[in-house]
Amino acid sequence: MLFDRVKPLDAILLTAEKKGLHRSLGAFQLTMLGIGGVIGTGIFVLTSEAAQKAGPGMLLSFCVAGFVCAVAALCYAELASMVPVSGSAYTYTYAVVGELLAWMVGWALILEYAVGASAVAVGWSNHAVGLLKGLGVAFPNAISNADALNAKVLLSFGTAPTPDLLTALNTGGWINIPAVVITGVITWLLIIGTTESARVNAILVAIKILALTAFVALTLPVLNSDHFNSLSEPFLPTGTSGVFGAAASIFFAYVGFDAVSTAAEETKNPQRNVPIGLIASLSICTVFYLLVASGAIGAIGAQPLLGANGLSLAPGSAEMAGRCVSVVAKGAIEPLVCSKEALVHVLDVIGHPGVGRLVGLAAVIALPSVVLIMMFGQTRVFFTMARDGLLPDRLASVHSRYRTPHVVTLVTGLGAAVAAAFLPVGKLADYSNSGTLFAFMMVAISVMVLRKTDPDRKRPFRTPAVWLIGALTIVGCFYLYISLPLTAILVLPGWGILGLIIYFFYSRAHSHVGRGIV
Ligand code: ALA
Repeated sequence: MLFDRVKPLDAILLTAEKKGLHRSLGAFQLTMLGIGGVIGTGIFVLTSEAAQKAGPGMLLSFCVAGFVCAVAALCYAELASMVPVSGSAYTYTYAVVGELLAWMVGWALILEYAVGASAVAVGWSNHAVGLLKGLGVAFPNAISNADALNAKVLLSFGTAPTPDLLTALNTGGWINIPAVVITGVITWLLIIGTTESARVNAILVAIKILALTAFVALTLPVLNSDHFNSLSEPFLPTGTSGVFGAAASIFFAYVGFDAVSTAAEETKNPQRNVPIGLIASLSICTVFYLLVASGAIGAIGAQPLLGANGLSLAPGSAEMAGRCVSVVAKGAIEPLVCSKEALVHVLDVIGHPGVGRLVGLAAVIALPSVVLIMMFGQTRVFFTMARDGLLPDRLASVHSRYRTPHVVTLVTGLGAAVAAAFLPVGKLADYSNSGTLFAFMMVAISVMVLRKTDPDRKRPFRTPAVWLIGALTIVGCFYLYISLPLTAILVLPGWGILGLIIYFFYSRAHSHVGRGIV
């Protein structure tokens, strides 16, 4: 009885037709939309976290994460071309495996989008603070990160007071104000009705591509092959588990291509253009990421910092923050793994601080649009769920003057701001990934189930070798999920249980499908 509530595909398509959004996007704009949503904090900031987990082996991590996203994108593309409506993975699963799992997917997408938005906001904060510093303005450390707070929490839970932890407590900050501010500004923009126009997006994509290209052009000529593999700098300092651990985190750098599928309702000839947009944006980003990662490794090296037990310190942890402070205090050049703005730092070290500042400026200008895309995606999913009766109507109420879903936007903004205020970027990215990996897995399952249950429906784009690609998506997502740090692994079931409680106490009784209103 639990899996019996399926929303018929034809009803979904009819709703979309009635709603009638203007179809204006073509393959090129969709690709730009994809790149706009993808390139962000992942490559600009988390490159150093990936290095801390895998060393130069992070090159393999980028390949693994890119591969999992590529197979997932092929599954996404079949569903997006068949069911070209808003709501993404949530809508697809509703049509295929029913309401309960769709609810779980929608619930997981909240992790992906809202927590992802906070991760990008923290990445933005790192760059904004760095840029101000470059201009001679010292933004107070106490209010630009929460390292001291995290150390204090650990100590009060009985963690041994190691020198690294005490350094973090004494030198770190308590709250990340710039991240809160940018989240607030984006929330306000969404409430007054700013959606990113295709033209602004194209300009921001150009800025990001230009920044990454400049980085590659300046780092590749100074590559030192010893940094990739030598006696003192092994290629795999943390073994294959390090490679997969880094892949699970750097997966965040690829997230966002699914924004393309959420725009399917606004796309001309979605049957052709959505798959092109998904696959083209992912391919372009993968090529850039591999070049950028190679440049960073080859220019200054990427060896992890090890703890007393010989294992690499957890990136984003208070110990790691403390260790980085001590390393620099001893007069060493800040290692890549410590940097909060990886690419800017590499350029500084190799003697291009001016270009570094411009790359930082590019991040400061362009990252807010990634926050906006993610928060917008979040409100869309919330909205679709409310349209189906699974969430209270009040949440989806529309502002009388701005005609935007201000309540849902405000709730999303508040949640994202609190997370951004107190958690480090790497942890936020990992939590976001746990939700995304679950959603991707469900998409792959839906494609395969639909091939069996509705084999004759027109499929403008067919996932090639669907049984293989679908299986690879499921196995790949599952493997990345279990390669995440333990807390991130636990976030998904914890969040899921909360979701189930809400489902059984509210949504199940209010569902339009359940009440026969389709
Ligand atoms: N992929 C996006 C980023 O890295 C979410 O910021």
